[in-house]
Amino acid sequence: MGQDLVQILPATSVSALGQPQPASSPAREQTCQKSFYIETFGCQMNVHDSEKVAGVLLAKGYRPVEDSASADLILYNTCSIREKAAQKVFSRLGAFKKGYRGDAKTIGVLGCVAQQEGTRIFDRAPQVSLVCGSASYASLGGLIDRLERGERRVSGLSLDTDECFETELTRRDHPYRAYLTIIEGCNRACSYCVVPKTRGPERSRPSGRILAEARRLVNEGATEIQLLGQTVNSYHDSSPSRLSFSELLLRVAEIPGLRRLRFTTSHPSDFSSDIVQAIDAQPVLCNHIHLPVQSGSSRVLERMRRTYTREEYLEKIGCVRKAQRAISVSTDIIVGFCGETEDDFEQTLGLLDLVQYDQVFSFKYSVRPRTEAGSMEDTVPDEEKGQRLTVLQEKQRQIQLRRNQGLIGREYEVLVENFQAKLGQCVGRTSDNHVINFPGEPGWTGNYLGVKVMSAGPNSLVGVRTGGNNGSGNENPNADDGPRH
Ligand code: SAH
Ligand code: SF4
Ligand code: F3S
Repeated sequence: MGQDLVQILPATSVSALGQPQPASSPAREQTCQKSFYIETFGCQMNVHDSEKVAGVLLAKGYRPVEDSASADLILYNTCSIREKAAQKVFSRLGAFKKGYRGDAKTIGVLGCVAQQEGTRIFDRAPQVSLVCGSASYASLGGLIDRLERGERRVSGLSLDTDECFETELTRRDHPYRAYLTIIEGCNRACSYCVVPKTRGPERSRPSGRILAEARRLVNEGATEIQLLGQTVNSYHDSSPSRLSFSELLLRVAEIPGLRRLRFTTSHPSDFSSDIVQAIDAQPVLCNHIHLPVQSGSSRVLERMRRTYTREEYLEKIGCVRKAQRAISVSTDIIVGFCGETEDDFEQTLGLLDLVQYDQVFSFKYSVRPRTEAGSMEDTVPDEEKGQRLTVLQEKQRQIQLRRNQGLIGREYEVLVENFQAKLGQCVGRTSDNHVINFPGEPGWTGNYLGVKVMSAGPNSLVGVRTGGNNGSGNENPNADDGPRH
């Protein structure tokens, strides 16, 4: 999952793929006085949760605004995966020195820091009135009602749920690309990780509901769906259909009008060859897999409680490399975990050479409270962690540069995700998750276009359009509306 992504849901982005849009209806505008601002930190699951939260607020008659200064309700949807991520919310809250409730501003902390810190947040930041973890979002509407009735502090912190939070109201950010959570929480126990504590136990949505939502999204104009879960491939269908994860992929991919299906994040221990076979069999399934390895040393993996060895991980990669379609692979790596020696680190560097990843998200190990590793000795000094990170990133930069330069002259179909007005450039993404920038027009956003790669850097490609507009694949009345990243 992409980390430390910060996303602000802007006021102009009310294009809810055909969802009821109370804030934009004239009747509502007369009565709706309250506005909200939501800022999101962390992974795609958080980004999607914010879309759900925004939907709940829109249905309550709130309207979104672009800056916190003009909002009645300010929400921070937080991440606590590393210390730095967790601190961000407190630096935001620092800007509001005194209580705002009386001044008609209500401040709420949602997400993983909310769950981890709980009501201690009220002590540390008295200006906060609402604290709610993701497992309690079903009660968020009720908590807001209580604040509106004048309660000073409300919280939703129960992890005691076996259901995913589902809402028909979700206000999705993009007209063409939609996130869809299929599994919440995590039942694993990686020794460094807060997620099982912040998102609770694993809960899978019944396949029938997932398929119904996917069909609805496609009917409303989405041509790309990304299935989400912290361990997305640990999916267990509790309904009588008992679909396996790969069967679910194939069923979603068959929906007429859907052009791309992605999924993230896959856990190596639950990664099986039927997923590769599904990608081979169904071109709608994107030929990209995010398969976090964390370390190239079996000794470190053991201490991390990752439940696989270096060799077992490499076997899974071998299975991916045997596919008929070339499947790109990305990963996450932690450097400087407790007890990581120079030799362990060298093994991680060696793994980069062996696997030849297309993208690596790498992080310095950050000690997290209430994790198993939190009580292990953090043996690698911060400076050493920093040096290892630099070495690893430089090595991967060279690998990516070489790999990307090998793509010069190739033609791809890209989905145009964005238009950068200043540069006059479109930002397109290939099925295998490469980003290609090419000269274009704002109206091309949302279309699938042919692009030829002309030059390459380590992180992106530069291309030219080859002609042939393949259309949006789905008649989309909002073709030029809505925000883009
Ligand atoms: N569920 C995914 C990862 C979710 S967290 C998986 O199992 O792979 C995203 C990434 O953050 C992790 O893959 C890991 O690389 C990193 N991460 C998690 N905890 C961390 C910590 N305490 N310090 C540094 N990086 C961490
Ligand atoms: Fe964290 Fe491990 Fe669960 Fe991923 S699988 S969310 S790293 S505990
Ligand atoms: Fe961060 Fe929570 Fe996601 S800790 S990475 S926002 S699950």
